[in-house]
Amino acid sequence: MSGVLVIGSGFVGTGVARRLSADGIPVTLASRGRPATPPAAYGARWSALDATVPEACGRLLDRVRPDGVVLVHGPSDVTWCEAHPAAAERAHTVVADNIASLAPGVRIVLISTDNVFDGAAERNAESAPVSPANAYGRAKRRAEEVLLATAADAVALRVSLVYGYEPADAGKWLNFFAACAHHLLRGEPVRAPDDHWTTPIAVDDVARVTAALLDAAGPLPPVLHLAGPDRVTRAEWALTIADALGADARLVVPVPKARTRYASRPRNACLTSDLLTALPALRSLSVRGVDAAARALAPEFTGSAAP
Ligand SMILES: NC(=O)c1ccc[n+]([C@@H]2O[C@H](COP(=O)([O-])OP(=O)(O)OC[C@H]3O[C@@H](n4cnc5c(N)ncnc54)[C@H](OP(=O)(O)O)[C@@H]3O)[C@@H](O)[C@H]2O)c1
Repeated sequence: MSGVLVIGSGFVGTGVARRLSADGIPVTLASRGRPATPPAAYGARWSALDATVPEACGRLLDRVRPDGVVLVHGPSDVTWCEAHPAAAERAHTVVADNIASLAPGVRIVLISTDNVFDGAAERNAESAPVSPANAYGRAKRRAEEVLLATAADAVALRVSLVYGYEPADAGKWLNFFAACAHHLLRGEPVRAPDDHWTTPIAVDDVARVTAALLDAAGPLPPVLHLAGPDRVTRAEWALTIADALGADARLVVPVPKARTRYASRPRNACLTSDLLTALPALRSLSVRGVDAAARALAPEFTGSAAP
């Protein structure tokens, strides 16, 4: 690929950009504010962009001339979306429409969510009928529809809960694994729902699949699902994290989801795919389960990773 534009430079966007840069692909990250980690540190560029403004999108696309675009913009905060449903839907759909209209012929990967399902089924494959769980899920579903109706070469990649390393001094941790790990290592309790199931996937695995989809020959299915192989409650997952870190498992406090900030999340935020590994470009890719990924990530959190 000659270049990729990643719109959204938060937790997932940064993970995707790091992977593409490591693969030698020129990457431009774009967001309204500067990302916390300067993209130059891993060989990528950054441009200021409010992707809801079509003229700004047009100028950046003219300058970068990407042959792939990844849409990983916010708002991603489920609680904020619930309080601001119209603004959330507008933000997601306008950006999808801008890029689909202004980048014809460019492959576009929209990172979507398992919140397009209501959580009644234990797991949902691509053929399952959507029924968004909340305002965030409705906004992402509308963005999928807008993108797929307008773009010639686009895929909505619905991804389960994403996790990975974030430093202790990040200020606010953006993913459950990192928050859980840092609290456990400080000897602080972690209240984790025991009635909220997810199929978590490591951010680098999301990035590797996204990179393969950008590069895959031929047309892609309009919707693909991507999840880790393990279906776990957050409480079970926290125990796995504690074990990998050598932290005290008694710090994990199982609680009902309704008493946490996950109250509006679907009971089952779990995906499975009938299509992903049937794609030739994806056949050799495997994604890690929670135990293997926790053991791989633990040294970064404990400071014992090789320099
Ligand atoms: N994290 C997960 O577990 C997960 C799972 C499934 C799907 N997803 C999807 O992946 C996407 C990214 O998630 P994330 O966790 O990386 O979120 P995040 O950390 O909150 O990052 C969102 C990024 O989007 C940027 N952004 C927001 N509005 C923008 C606009 N108008 N124009 C340009 N950039 C804009 C933000 O920067 P500024 O505010 O500075 O512009 C930020 O860099 C979301 O759409 C989410 O639905 C995430």
